[in-house]
Amino acid sequence: MSGRFITFEGIDGAGKSTHIEALAQRLRARGAEVVQTREPGGTALAERLRELVLGSGMDALTEALLVFAARRDHVEQVIRPALARGATLLCDRFTDATFAYQGGGRGFDAGVLAQLERWVHGDLQPELTLWLDLPADIAARRRAEARAADRFEREDLAFFERVRAGYAQRMAAAPRRFARIDAALDRQAVWAQIEAELEKRSW
Ligand code: TYD
Repeated sequence: MSGRFITFEGIDGAGKSTHIEALAQRLRARGAEVVQTREPGGTALAERLRELVLGSGMDALTEALLVFAARRDHVEQVIRPALARGATLLCDRFTDATFAYQGGGRGFDAGVLAQLERWVHGDLQPELTLWLDLPADIAARRRAEARAADRFEREDLAFFERVRAGYAQRMAAAPRRFARIDAALDRQAVWAQIEAELEKRSW
């Protein structure tokens, strides 16, 4: 038995959290066992690594190694077991974020990231990746209203446009897995696009 693995991606301020919650409710209402989780994080060890990655300055390779270390623990402890018992797993970010942030944003070597990806989770990939895409300036305005910034959120607009380009590249390489959602629209219009993607798949 294998459950569904759905990931949410996008630059900071895209509005992932709201829609993950809404999707979890929709799926539970239809009787699915839903596991909600996030990266970096999702296990006790990975949450400790998250604090380091979000809190301390470090170079891009160190950052990539820490997010992949967190991911390895998360994949082994949470993701594979949940999928094996047939649960639907909703994950706030996964490896596409590493290609977008460390690859696109920081300019780190995508070939090295691809090797780490293979080591850490082999053939395991999400079945669907909902990429909430919007321009960096709109996301920055939303963040300013919403919360205190972590290390990534203090980066400038150019950084976030590179992250965005990183996501676009990942989508070009896996167009069937990705659905690009226009996240510049209002909340209801964003949700309608997500529902349409699920309906397209009869989920
Ligand atoms: P985020 O998921 O946006 O959480 P919150 O909604 O609590 O702010 O924050 C995680 C941050 O970690 C985000 O800025 C992107 C960064 N990140 C990476 O740089 N690489 C990765 O591989 C992952 C998973 C996240």
